[in-house]
Order: sequence, then C-alpha cells, then structure tokens
Amino acid sequence: MKEVKIIGIGSGIPDNIMTNDDLSKIVDTSDEWITTRTGIKERRISKGENTSDLAAKAVMKALKMSDTKPEEIDMIILSTSSPDALSPSTACFVQDKIGAVNASCFDISAACSGFVYALRIGAQFIKTGECKKVLVIGAEVLSKITDWTDRSTCVLFGDGAGAAVLAESDEKGVSSIFTGAQGNKAGYLGITCVPVKNPLVKPEEIENIKLHMDGKEVFRFASSIVIEAIDKVLKDSGLTMDDIKYVIPHQANVRIIEYAVKKLKAPEGKFYINLDKYGNTSAASIPIALAEMNEKGLIKKGDKLILVAFGAGFTWSACLVEWNI
Ligand code: UT7
Repeated sequence: MKEVKIIGIGSGIPDNIMTNDDLSKIVDTSDEWITTRTGIKERRISKGENTSDLAAKAVMKALKMSDTKPEEIDMIILSTSSPDALSPSTACFVQDKIGAVNASCFDISAACSGFVYALRIGAQFIKTGECKKVLVIGAEVLSKITDWTDRSTCVLFGDGAGAAVLAESDEKGVSSIFTGAQGNKAGYLGITCVPVKNPLVKPEEIENIKLHMDGKEVFRFASSIVIEAIDKVLKDSGLTMDDIKYVIPHQANVRIIEYAVKKLKAPEGKFYINLDKYGNTSAASIPIALAEMNEKGLIKKGDKLILVAFGAGFTWSACLVEWNI
C-alpha cells in the first residue's frame, strides 16, 4: 500500500461580508447574542456565485500550489450539502470549470464531516494505485438553503469552499482516518427531505427545502464526539497531544471547541479557530482553515495535525495529517 499526502491546498471565499449587525436587520438578534453563544462575528455570503464557482476558485489555488495541471487529476470528490443541482454532481461542474478532462467526478453527502470522509475515499484510491492524483473538495453555498426567517439557524452558517490535492508519496501524509455515523439521529439536523411532488400529492403537503436544527442535541453530540474522535486518532497513531502541532476542528461554535480544549487539557492556541470570520461553512470549514493556516505560514514541513469534524447524520470524522509539502 502506498502513502498518501496533501500536496496543495486552497480556499474560495465570497467577497461579500455579512456582519452580526447586518443580520440583526433581518431577524430579531444581536451581535452580543451571536458572539457570546457562538463566537461568530461575521460570515461570507455569496452574491450569486454557486457552489461549483467557489469550489473551482479553491481548486485553482490548490493546483497552483502543488504545481499540478488539471489534466493530471484522476478523480474529483466533492462534499456538499448545497450542490449546484441534484444532478449532475457539483464535481462535474467543477471539472468543466477547471478543465480536469481526465477525472472521474462525484459528490458525497456527509454534511460537515464531509471533507474528511472525502479524504478517506480519495486516500483509498491512491493507496491501491488506482489513482495518482485526486482532488478532494468541501464546498457550500448554504445561504441558498438557509431559512432566513429562523434566527436560531440563519446566524450560524456561511458560504465558502476549500480544496486539497492528494497524491501518492514516499513520506507519511494522511493516516489514522476514521469516519462514523448515527443515522438514528437524522432528524436533529438537516435540510428538509426533498418532497414527493406528483399529481397524487396536494400542494399544501409539499414543504420548502430548508435547513433545520435542534441546536442543543447537536451541541451535546458534537462536544462528546470531538473528544472521542481525537482520542481515537492519537491511540491509532501512537501519538500524544504533545506531538500534535494543531488540531483543526470543524468550525461550528467556539463553545464546542473550548469544551474540547478544556477536557483534553490542551494548551491555548493548539485548536485553530477562524469561525469568527466565516461562521459555519459545513464541509468547507476544515479545508478553508487549513488553507488559511498555510497562507499564514503557521504549518511547516513535518508538523502533525489532527482534523476532526461532526455534523448532520449524525456523522463524524477525524484523521492525522503529516504536513510534508
Ligand atoms: O455544523 C453543524 C453542527 N452544528 C452545531 O454544532 C450547532 C450546535 N449548537 C449550537 O451551537 C447552539 O445550540 C446554538 C448556538 C445553536 C444555540 O445556542 P444555545 O445556547 O443552545 O441557545 P438556545 O437554543 O438554548 O436559545 C437560548 C435563547 C432562546 O430564548 P429563550 O427561549 O431562552 O427565551 C432562543 O429563542 O436564545 C434565543 N435565540 C436567540 N436570541 C437572539 C436563539 N437564537 C437567537 C438569536 N438571537 N440568533
């Protein structure tokens, strides 16, 4: 089996900023409530760019960083809860936008856990020798499925995309990847089931497609699974928290991250946080954070990172990344 590493990373973020004060003009909320309950100060909201547009932006940066031509890509795996269309996959739209003419393309649905789920799938194709280079993308325009009348959810989410180029390697890269799900908790967080619409169903029985969440249940699940998943990665890799340069958690709520920091007795600053600027961008939050850390020069060759995510399903995912670029 071959080793697999990330050789390029990039983000695609809309320019348009929506602050907490902007939101307080739309729903009954305040900067004070949003900041103290979530840590979010602002988020990016698309002014017409679709999920594949943001994804393509992220991909172009990741390709440039890794000195990879679009034609070298064997597969595009895109995780999203807000695709351009139900069919074809958003990965196909990205393929066309970037000219990755030799790639197989498909989307996966694992909500906020999706980037690491996609990483696991991509890594398998490289390990077995079936692919040489795989694009793994987390991309969302959640603003198109947000219920902008529901203050308990619309203040949380934002739009954005992140992409990584995976390649086979002699050095260690991505390992100890775990993914899991609890489908019996599906009702606590999601985007309304796509309604059945045919002449036998009355129009009033058809719901609009929008996001809904039982925040408290999700908070409870997230707080415990983050710690469990990090422990699993550490045990599997034979490492301790001292060996890890950064933990990059899914950016949902600063209180969930602070709880994990406290429980794991991690030093201040070990968990990377940027949700104050972007809100919760679901599948995109981890690759956006990774790209930002790379741009800021925070991660150096040989650094060990843990990625950990949780979300609708419920789903969760975590892995170790050795930064060998
Ligand atoms: O990526 C997917 C994963 N998602 C998550 O991880 C989200 C996890 N959950 C959370 O982050 C938190 O549960 C929330 C931020 C969603 C909510 O925080 P909370 O501390 O659980 O607040 P709450 O739902 O208990 O609401 C407290 C109060 C309520 O008023 P009453 O009933 O006490 O009078 C809400 O109506 O805050 C009210 N409220 C708001 N007030 C101002 C709810 N949303 C807002 C708002 N502005 N935006």
